[in-house]
Amino acid sequence: MTIPTNKFDLTAKHVIVTGGGSGIGAAITELFAAAGAKVIVGDINVDASLKQHANSDYSSSIDVHHCDISDSESVNNFIAISCKNRKIDVLVNNAGVGFVGTISETSPENFDRLYQTNVRGTYNMTKALMPQFLDRKQGVIVNMASICGLVGVPDRFAYCMTKFAIIGMTKSMAMDHAKDNIRINCICPGRIATPFMFDRINEYPDPEAIRADMDASQPLGRMGTPEEVATVALYLASDASSFVTGACESVDGGWFAG
Ligand SMILES: NC(=O)c1ccc[n+]([C@@H]2O[C@H](COP(=O)([O-])OP(=O)(O)OC[C@H]3O[C@@H](n4cnc5c(N)ncnc54)[C@H](O)[C@@H]3O)[C@@H](O)[C@H]2O)c1
Repeated sequence: MTIPTNKFDLTAKHVIVTGGGSGIGAAITELFAAAGAKVIVGDINVDASLKQHANSDYSSSIDVHHCDISDSESVNNFIAISCKNRKIDVLVNNAGVGFVGTISETSPENFDRLYQTNVRGTYNMTKALMPQFLDRKQGVIVNMASICGLVGVPDRFAYCMTKFAIIGMTKSMAMDHAKDNIRINCICPGRIATPFMFDRINEYPDPEAIRADMDASQPLGRMGTPEEVATVALYLASDASSFVTGACESVDGGWFAG
């Protein structure tokens, strides 16, 4: 009997990664391309995404197209381009936006913006690809949730609301589509060092002190890297996790354990 030694191989797989132009999505794009996949990045910021992957060793395996996941017309156009002459094997719903504040500090506009991108965006992308997955009785979806989808985190009212919704969508779709051979899982990162985390840090008088506090508040004494989330995404996207569906994989340096 031959035992397959590389169940993480993505050769000949076509993968869509939303938000692949920065941070965690960029690391997933690079790692998946290194594992043999053809990766199609859908990002609202095409210039930054092209720049991000321009010097990649795998640039010939990475396509970048405009996609605003919050807008169903933009999503449908992106899916039409992505599916021209090929079938998609894996969807990584990674793109997301954040907001810091309690309910009192969250305007209706910010509430709607977070809902529209994080929740409706995940719905738009998944709904657009689902007919293809159902036709082929095959597909893998990896959703990007957060520790903020597992517990209430102070000052993250709207963000927690959207990430709890992503975990709910993941589990409910996993139950609906296990019989269709479609696996749906999500990742719950803790604090990961990306532009998302540092967007507003320079507004503080001592950004270095804030960063040091962020590191110190993690059980492992540091924030995670985008690459450390990407390896878990590779596990969930590949045959290495062939019996895993409806799961939430924490990548949080131990944060949720305490
Ligand atoms: N960084 C963290 O600490 C952390 C922790 C937990 C979860 N997450 C989640 O991980 C995901 C990626 O976060 P990141 O830290 O890499 O962020 P990032 O800001 O570095 O990258 C986000 C990417 O998404 C794109 N994007 C934003 N809105 C979009 C839209 N409407 N349509 C298409 N693309 C859009 C941006 O242009 C950018 O390229 C998000 O869902 C975030 O909520 C991040």
